[in-house]
Amino acid sequence: MCGIVAYVGDRDCTPILVGGLKRLEYRGYDSSGLAVRTQDGGIEVVRSVGKLQRLEAALAAHPLFGTDGIGHTRWATHGRPNETNAHPHAAGSVVLVHNGIVENHVALRAELEAEGVRFASETDTEVLAHLIAKAVDGGAPNLETAVRRAITRVQGSYALAVMSTKERGKIVVAKNDSPLILAHNEGEAFAASDIPAILPHVPEVLILEDGEVATLERAGITITDANGERVVRQPHRVSWSLVESGKGGFKHYMLKEIHEQPRALEHTIRGRISSDGGDVVLPESGLTPETAKEIRRVCFIACGSSSNAALTGRYWMEQLGGVRASVEVGSEVRYRDAIFGPEDLVVAISQSGETADTLAALRTAREAGARVLAIVNVRDSAIARASDGVLYTHAGPEVAVASTKCFTAQLAALLLLAVHVGRTRGSLSHAEGRRILEALKRVPGQVRTILANARGVRGIAKKHHQSKSMLVLGRGPSYPVALETALKVKEISYIHAEGYAAGEMKHGPIALVDETMPVVVLCPQDRHHDKTLSNMQEVMARGAKIIVVCTKDDAELTAMAAVRARLAASPDGSEPPPSSRPHPGNVDVIEIPDARSEVLPLLTVVPMQLLSYNLALLQGRDVDQPRNLAKTVTVE
Ligand code: M6R
Repeated sequence: MCGIVAYVGDRDCTPILVGGLKRLEYRGYDSSGLAVRTQDGGIEVVRSVGKLQRLEAALAAHPLFGTDGIGHTRWATHGRPNETNAHPHAAGSVVLVHNGIVENHVALRAELEAEGVRFASETDTEVLAHLIAKAVDGGAPNLETAVRRAITRVQGSYALAVMSTKERGKIVVAKNDSPLILAHNEGEAFAASDIPAILPHVPEVLILEDGEVATLERAGITITDANGERVVRQPHRVSWSLVESGKGGFKHYMLKEIHEQPRALEHTIRGRISSDGGDVVLPESGLTPETAKEIRRVCFIACGSSSNAALTGRYWMEQLGGVRASVEVGSEVRYRDAIFGPEDLVVAISQSGETADTLAALRTAREAGARVLAIVNVRDSAIARASDGVLYTHAGPEVAVASTKCFTAQLAALLLLAVHVGRTRGSLSHAEGRRILEALKRVPGQVRTILANARGVRGIAKKHHQSKSMLVLGRGPSYPVALETALKVKEISYIHAEGYAAGEMKHGPIALVDETMPVVVLCPQDRHHDKTLSNMQEVMARGAKIIVVCTKDDAELTAMAAVRARLAASPDGSEPPPSSRPHPGNVDVIEIPDARSEVLPLLTVVPMQLLSYNLALLQGRDVDQPRNLAKTVTVE
């Protein structure tokens, strides 16, 4: 989604703003722009379509020098991604950038047009610029009052940074449902959509809350509430280092983040297993033994990859926690008149902690009396703050749009939670709890093994990167991994992929299978193994090209793959008729280490992330910033 950076100080602001926007690139964007106050007090704007290199080229042709300015990367919602629609937008003395959606922009535009205002762009944002300019012209005593007056007219979400030619050395920011953080150093002030944008400049940040307005000046930051009353806000120390948010020698952030999974998982697990190894300690969850016993249902709410993690969590919560569990997609449950009550534990899962649909849904559940627990990666994010308790995944910053390490960290947190609930409610014995937690502790090392032996995955990707479509099958907890694999393949390689519960194949999707279709089968050693194997044979019999993920030394599968290889080498007439034998061709086998069934999803997904990455690489895609996607989805 859009990225905002603002600076007031003594330094040349253009490199600070462009540097900040570069560190927000992961959010996804299709145009960008800067507005800088010049020596004579005017404000100059440079905008461009496409990547930030194009903005840099535009700035080389038309340099902007000044000590206060605002920058923006736009992810188009209202109006095409062209230069006219790119931010900043100007109206009268006002220039602003905006992240979010003005939902009543049609009515406001009509009203302003009736008053004689002429719009330059197709954006909803320009309405805001005109409303603020109108408040300035209407006698507002200062820019912050004009902003406060204007936002009372607006429905929807916004983070704004506003400058005026009438007030030097000042930038006013405001927010509702879109993130904005602030920071102050000796003689300079910053605002940004996310911490990495200003991380090189400040050790601490302040979080602006919904409805608040802040004034950035060299002397400091003043925060006021909707009534203009002064708000005192304590800063938070930023713990992520810049080193962690660089590419660290990897070609892409996604690859780096895939390889960071062992460490991320260690961080998620660390300090959460009791000293005797049989219990989970989660004081920050806010779940006491009493409240855990009162739960009648656990409802997971999430979007995208986080909802695939939630589906896995459902299996664990029912099997280990002994509680009825359901999964709801944020964008659906918020408009479904869903029934929540005090007996529900709602678990909101989000990497960014800012996903608008998940946030709105959890608020609805909380208003209905449900207890809300957040599983998020970003500290003090909106979802964390809107919940009764928080389990941070501690995976470190995830920059690539495609979630990898945050997904596996979510799985680890969900398994810990299920064991915790099971132990507290008595549905899981201490001994069994200890065996599962021992298995979880071995996962980081096993992921290292998978990554060290993953060279073959690139060869498999080479065979299939020109495929038009792909199926991914799994049963039990491998089914959400199938969904996650298909999502990953789609979003970064743009190859159409669908995940299915393997048992569903014969209810329709098997009609798609022919000799051109690669089918990934997730078939680790668990209680679903033999049934999945049968489903695999059904698609093999119809000619599919199989990629199977299995436990190391799976004798049955190895034998089956060998038969296939032999048939492929000499498909002579001595073999049984086609209807009763596997179709000649390849079976590619990807092995994972032997592990307890509960932790298998944390292992099977890793080679699938690598497969998706390699498919995208071979397709020449923009792996870290796939088209049309944003890292943090702050609009619904
Ligand atoms: O920040 P969140 O976990 O709430 O984000 C949810 C989805 O937008 C996210 O998982 C998305 O599906 C990713 N692109 C998946 O790789």
